[in-house]
Parts: sequence; structure tokens; C-alpha cells
Amino acid sequence: MKEIKRTVIVDALKREDIGSEINVRGWVRTRRGNKNINFIALNDGSTINNMQIVVDLSKFSDELMRTITTGASLSVNGILTESVGSGQRVELQATEIKVYGTADPEKYPLQKKGHTMEYLREIAHLRLRTNTFGAVSRIRHNMAIAIHTFFHERGYFYFHSPIITASDCEGAGHMFQVTTQNLNDLKKTPDGKVDYSEDFFGKQANLTVSGQLEGELAAMALGKIYTFGPTFRAENSNTPRHLAEFWMIEPEVAFIGLEELMALEEEFIKYCVKWALDNCSDDLAFLNKMIDNNLIACLEAVVNTEFVHLTYTEGIKILETAISNGKKFSYPIFWGCDLASEHERYLVEEHFKKPIIMTDYPKEIKAFYMKINADGKTVQGTDVLFPQIGEIIGGSVREEDYDKLIGEIEARNIPMKDMWWYLDTRRFGTAPHAGFGLGFERLMLFVTGMQNIRDVIPFPRTPKNADF
Ligand code: 4AD
Ligand code: MG
Repeated sequence: MKEIKRTVIVDALKREDIGSEINVRGWVRTRRGNKNINFIALNDGSTINNMQIVVDLSKFSDELMRTITTGASLSVNGILTESVGSGQRVELQATEIKVYGTADPEKYPLQKKGHTMEYLREIAHLRLRTNTFGAVSRIRHNMAIAIHTFFHERGYFYFHSPIITASDCEGAGHMFQVTTQNLNDLKKTPDGKVDYSEDFFGKQANLTVSGQLEGELAAMALGKIYTFGPTFRAENSNTPRHLAEFWMIEPEVAFIGLEELMALEEEFIKYCVKWALDNCSDDLAFLNKMIDNNLIACLEAVVNTEFVHLTYTEGIKILETAISNGKKFSYPIFWGCDLASEHERYLVEEHFKKPIIMTDYPKEIKAFYMKINADGKTVQGTDVLFPQIGEIIGGSVREEDYDKLIGEIEARNIPMKDMWWYLDTRRFGTAPHAGFGLGFERLMLFVTGMQNIRDVIPFPRTPKNADF
């Protein structure tokens, strides 16, 4: 085979030099045709669009052609030609074809179109080769780039918080332990407890649920930081919106309060959604056609809408009024309750029909670090609530007053000795500050229109499932 430098298909489809011989490489999506001529749809992952390879069967052996089936990988030299068929501007008239790897049609699991999402989860090692998961993967990459670009352009520093930690930031206790102890022969202290002094870190250690506490340390030095990394929660929530391993983006900013925090949350999400509209149009068009016909309209609406600012107390009133007008919810509503996603979605999808930033929650249902309002009952927490998703961001102004913070830590029985380094921020040069956490996969759900969070991360970890 003639040596020609490879062109990736996303670039090949844009080439203007009709008549040139070029080389593309990729995997066969489909092959069709008659006894004289065949059409191979070749995809190399660089774009959702395929290169159509036109094969004059009189020029290629039956033996070679038999191996060119769905899933096989090829290198193709061919003449770039204007396409007469609809669907593509250019195609390749094959001059030489090399098969790198065959895919036995009797055994290759990705034969027909229209596999269910459930089936594709069972073959997550191959589903990346489908149009849907190719599109989701490219959009996921783009969202990561958008996030780094957003913060970099605004002077934030990317800060690496640890994955292994001894503290439970959210205080909810849903943590995975990290240990090197032999669980079949645990060392115990005289009073029967596990003896962590023998363990790798000399104390109990866990996978982090959030990088916020370390992020706050950095904000008190660098001013504006963000983290972007994996976080882990062992909550047994088998829902389409929960993962045991998910990625979170957590900016933390010194010298800002509630208004600036809310403005940052809104600007940030809009920037990411606009980035997708501007940079992922082919993939979004595909998902709009195949997954959710309202997707692009919904993304555009968010970019062009002002988010509603609503206090928790106002939200409860609206929900109570809805109930007295006949609306039924599964979970009860009362001041002090934690809103369920049915409540959040009612407010967003039915009442306001816009994203909502909800603030001023009862302190009992929020984490210890949130700034307490003058009323002594509510805190300056902010949840951003989105259509289809519910909570996409959780954030707050932080309590910067040492005594108030200690009061909350004691009231909640949080082990103080583990928190000394965090408390030092409030002892030395404390300053007002605020931050939030965006669940990366929740953003991905919104931007792709996919229905289940297991389908926006390559290899989902959920209760009873850590395959691949
Ligand atoms: O509301 P959360 O628990 O807030 C924090 O962790 C704070 N430390 C953030 C901060 O202020 N720096 O989580 C933040 C976001 C949620 O709004 C949600 O989008 C996502 O993380 N999230 C999950 N995503 C997928 N699966 C789960 N189990 C999630 N739990 C939270
Ligand atoms: Mg939350």
C-alpha cells in the first residue's frame, strides 16, 4: 500500500482539493451496495460524520471484501471526489484498502442500530463506538475545556485538592474507606474498635466527597481558585442522577458575598452551555434528532434566560399553594423539609419555567460551613435548580467567623481535632468568601439531553456496579 500521510475524517470532509489521493483510517460503521459497487461508511471518532468510501468491486478481491464488515478497522487510500449522493459533500473513490482488524459479524456485539441504553451499558467497552456515545464523549471533552477556559480567562487558578482525605466535607457520612488492612484479620484496640494506627495512614482515611475544604485554604492564599476532579459518594441512591464516582468543579473566591456568588454560578453555566452550542453543533444536532427533539431549543433558552432568584421560604410557599390547588407530591412539604427533586422540578419546570437559584435554606438541612443569616435560622446556601435535572449546583457563602463556625461544628458533633487546619483559615486572616460545586455529569445530562447519568460518563460506578 502506498504511504500517504493520514488525514483525520473531520479534516478530510472539509478538504477542497478534489482529485487528490488521500489516506483515512477508521472503523466500518456500515457497508451497503450491489454486486458492482459498495459504499463503506468509515468513522474515526474525530467527528460524528462518516467518510463515504466508494469501492469499485472489480478492483478488489472477494477475499478482502469479505473481511470488511461492521466494526472492522481499515486504512484506505482514495481519490477525493465530489459526492453525488446526498448527505456528504465529498467521498473517497478507494484505490487501496488495508484491513487492520476484522470483527466477526457472528460475534461483534454492535451490529444493528437501535440498541437500548441498558444493553449498551453492558458493553460499555464498545459503546464508545456508537454515534450516541461518540457524541457524548466529544461533548464531555468540550465541556472540560470550556470549564478550564472560563476560569483561566477570569484569573482563577486550577487547584488540585487531594483524593484521599480524613475529613467528611459535606458531613453526610457517605464515604468510601481507603485501607491497606487485611479485612479478614482486622487489628482491634482493647475496646474492640478497629485499630487504625496499624493502617497505611495511621488513621481512618476515605475517598473525598468534595475538594471544598482544601479549596478554601487555597482561596485564602491565591484569591480565586477552582478544583476539577473526581469525588466519591457511597450513598445508596439508585437514581438516574446519582453516581458513586462523579466529577465536580468547585470554584472558591475570596472577598465575595451572595450576590456575586449567584452571578458567578449563572455566568459559568451559561458559558458552558454556549460553548457547547458554538463548538459541538454536529453532535448536538445528532442528539437533538435521536435523543431529545427539544435539546437545542432548551440549551438556547438557558443561555438567553435570566435565572430566577428565590428564597427557600418563598419556594415552600409556592409549593404549599400548589398543593392546596390540588397538586400531588410523594413527599410532604413544610418549612424545614429538604426539597425532593419532584419539588425542585415543579418549581423549575411548571411554576417558573426557568432555572432557579434558591437561597437562604434552613441551617439544619445544610452543611456546617454555610454562613448563618442574621435571623439565626437560615444560611446563605445557593442551589441552582435546572429543568430535567433538579439540583445542578450546590454552593454557599462560607461562615468566616471563627466562633460561629465552632458553634456549628460543636452542635453537629463534628470531630474537632480533624478540623484544626480548616479552622486556622478563620484564625489567621479570615475573610469573606464563597464558592460552589457543579456536578460535571449533571451538566452533561443537561447539555446532551441524555436521560440517565450512567450514559454521560464512560464507565459509571453505581451501587453493585463497577465493571470495566
Ligand atoms: O451539593 P453538593 O453536595 O455540594 C458540595 O459538595 C459542596 N462542597 C460544593 C461547594 O460548595 N464547593 O454537591 C455539589 C454538586 C451537586 O449540586 C450535584 O450537581 C453534584 O455535585 N452531585 C452529584 N452528581 C452525581 N452524583 C452524585 N451522587 C452527586 N452528588 C452531588
Ligand atoms: Mg447539594
